Formats: sequence, C-alpha cells, structure tokens
Amino acid sequence: RYLIGGELLTWSGPMQTVTSPIYSGNEPTVLGACPELTEAQSLAAVDAVSAAWDDGRGAWPTMSVARRIDHVEAFVRRMVAVRDTVVRLMAWEICKPLPDCRAEFDRTVDYVRATVEALKDLDRASSRFVIEAGIYAQTRRAPLGPVLCMGPYNYPLNETFTTLIPALIMGNPVIVKTPRIGKLLYAPLLEAFAASFPPGVINILFGGRQVAIPALASGKISVLAFIGSSQAADALRRQHPAPHRLRCVLGLDAKNVGIVLPCADMELTAAEAVAGALSFNGQRCTALKLFYVHATRLEEFLARVGEGIAALPMGLPWLENVRITPLPVPGKPAALSAMVAEATGRGAWVANPLGGTTERTLVYPALVAGVTPGMRLHDEEQFGPVVPVASFTAVDTAAKAVTASPYGQQMSIFGTDPEAVAALIDPMVNQVCRVNLNSQCQRGPDTFPFTGRKDSAEGTLSVSDALRAFSIRTLVAAKGS
Ligand code: G3H
Repeated sequence: RYLIGGELLTWSGPMQTVTSPIYSGNEPTVLGACPELTEAQSLAAVDAVSAAWDDGRGAWPTMSVARRIDHVEAFVRRMVAVRDTVVRLMAWEICKPLPDCRAEFDRTVDYVRATVEALKDLDRASSRFVIEAGIYAQTRRAPLGPVLCMGPYNYPLNETFTTLIPALIMGNPVIVKTPRIGKLLYAPLLEAFAASFPPGVINILFGGRQVAIPALASGKISVLAFIGSSQAADALRRQHPAPHRLRCVLGLDAKNVGIVLPCADMELTAAEAVAGALSFNGQRCTALKLFYVHATRLEEFLARVGEGIAALPMGLPWLENVRITPLPVPGKPAALSAMVAEATGRGAWVANPLGGTTERTLVYPALVAGVTPGMRLHDEEQFGPVVPVASFTAVDTAAKAVTASPYGQQMSIFGTDPEAVAALIDPMVNQVCRVNLNSQCQRGPDTFPFTGRKDSAEGTLSVSDALRAFSIRTLVAAKGS
C-alpha cells in the first residue's frame, strides 16, 4: 500500500521485488515487494499536498503550534508500537548490524521528541511584538509550502525523519519518496502516519525517479529535502521549472580526511580510524574516507589499523558484535574492486591480508596504502569498506587534501602536541563544518549543527536548525501608536 490524501491505497500495478543482500542458497533472499508507482500517483500526491497547503490557507499551515505538536506526539506513540518490526526489516534489507538498527530507531524517536521541545522554544522566541521607528510589528515563523523529502538507504529512517519531522511540524505538508533500498520498513509505519495526521499532510510514495521527477516538474513543490549523492541532487533540482524558485535542504557527498600528525597517540588513532572508516562498512556520509599519515608514523598506522580490521567480526547483521556485513547496493563489491585496482595499478598497495576479497555481497575491508591525488580512491567518495591511506612530510600537503577537495563536510586531526593541532584547526574550520580532535567524524549528537561546505550540503540540519530551514521569518506590521 501507499498513502495519498489520507487514504491507504492498495496498488495493483507493477511491483518491485525487494531482496536482502543475504543469500538463501544461490539467490538473494526475497523479502517482499513494494509498489512501483508511476507519474499518475506522483501527480495525485502533488494534488493532495497542494490541497493541504491551499495557498497557505489550509488547516495544517494555519493550525496552532500546540495542535500540530499533538499530531506529532500521537504519531510517535504509534511509531514506537511497531519498533521491532521496523528494526528487523531494516536489518534484513540493508544489513546494518541489529544493535545499530535499534539505535537508529531510538535515535530517531529522540530526534522527534527533541524537535517538539525545540519548537516550543523557537515559537516563544519567534512570536513576539517589536516596536521600532514608529512601526508595530508581530514577528512569526511561517511554513514554506509543500515539501518533497527523500532520504538515503544507509539511514533509511533517521535521515528521512530529520527533514520530514521538522518540515511537518513547522506547518508544511510533505510527500515522502522512500529510498530505493531500505523501504520495506515504511510499510508498518503507513498506518501510523495515516491515523496521526489530517488528509494530505503526509503522503508516502514508493518508486524511483518516475515518482520524484513528475512531482518536481509540476512546479508545485516549494522545498526539496534530499539526502543522497551530489549528482542525484543536481539532476533532481533541474526538474523544477523556471521561474519558480525551489528551496533546497541537501545533505550530499563527502570525502572526510583524517590527518595523522607525527605526535599522534597511535593506539587511540587506530581505534578511531577503524571505527570511523568502517562502521556499517563505511556506508556513512560522515565516515572517514581518506587518511593522510605523517611518513614517520605510516608503518605503525598501517600495522595497527590492519590489526583492527582483522579483529572486526564479519557476517550476518544479528551475529554478536558483528561489524562488517553484506552490502545492499547491487554491484557495489565490483565497483569497490575497480577503485582498488585502479589505485594498485598506479602504485598503491593493499596493506592487509585478505583486503578487498569478496564473497558475494560481503567485502573484506581493504587498507590501501600509497594513495596519491588523481587516484579515484583519493578524489572520490568510496562509500564502502575501503580505507585509503596517503602519507606526507610537510603538513601543508595533508591540509591541501582538504582544501582541494570539492567536498567540505568534516575532518579529523590526530595529534597530542597542542600547538601542532591548534595550528591546523583555524584553516580547517574554514574548509569543513566540523573539525574532530583525536576522534572520528560523526553527525551526532543530532542536536549539533549538521551541514557541509562546497559540494557537501545546502542548509543546516540539527534539531533547531532544521526548524529554521523549513520555515521563514515573517512580520505583520502597522504604523501608528
Ligand atoms: O550518513 C550520514 C549520517 O547522518 C551519519 O550519521 O555520523 O551518526 O553515523 P552518523
């Protein structure tokens, strides 16, 4: 089923077979099927969301903040009741380790609750009277209009909800286009959405670009909230017709660099490097995706990170302490092998035994040393279990890997000499949006601002920043006494 205009509709057209990267015999396990919706359903959802908006006159955009919060809180109660089903579907479909799936669910619920609290504060701060130069004005935060939300496969719940919930609660009606992979978990949530919000306020669609493109091409979407690849974001925003302006809230590609100074505590550095590069197989926009290690510490870094990789349990997502699991994106193991082969063909080498070997969808992490600018592993986001390592003697060479990159999300500095570390912080903070000291890159806690420079993001997410991203400050002003 899918959700348009408050109705749960049963689809009788083509279905997409949903498989797990876990094999049963010689075939990927079939988990179920999802509607392969078309342009007609996309346009029906646009009609529903436009009716709910009703040029800003709709019941939802004009509803009091307190009543909108009631709807969101009712939704959370229903969402929590299907936690186990959502978590298990996530583990099967994207093969995230089961405890991490639970953590994603709980973190998402926390995010929604924190958003409700932040809205109360924001509303108090925004709705006020000012008198200046003889003008009496009431300021308030107003919604922007219909929003199209699309999230990625690696955080199919959390990343979509971090735009969906702030958009909704600020009074914007929303269409969610679920990810191509990591979508079955929306099935148990459909009824919770349908029962918690007025008709047309939330619409949930399944399908691919044949669903996203007509919605944007209609010119009736005010905001595109997209978390995924920079290339896909560009292709999507081009669909929106001129002269209407499409606001975008985007979380995109990243190539987060870890700089390992001569003074690094190598035990701590290696532990953070392994976790930062390989949690959920490196399928995180915030993963550490390239290391620059001072030449005097390179051998030790490779040895310790190699040991760390060897100690990572591999296998099914519900095995105890498992860290490396099957990859859900078809063709990903071959794509990673091609990147590694391109680097090794140009002088790099795989520095850990078994690195890069694959068994169907399972890829043993490759620690690739001798990586240099111009190699794909140096310049492109790998989004998988490969750890590229370059070395440097002058710290400017390492800093240049950050400044020359088209991306600017985060980076890490590993070192114990306060002066050496401090000398890097100011130039780096002007290149990325979060500098991590002696720790891996990460988004959380979700109340922290989350964004990027250059080609990595547009707009800022966090609990309170997202409320601002999906609203606009307005005034009602009058002259006189
Ligand atoms: O893929 C991007 C996620 O927002 C990363 O979140 O750093 O908590 O894994 P995380």
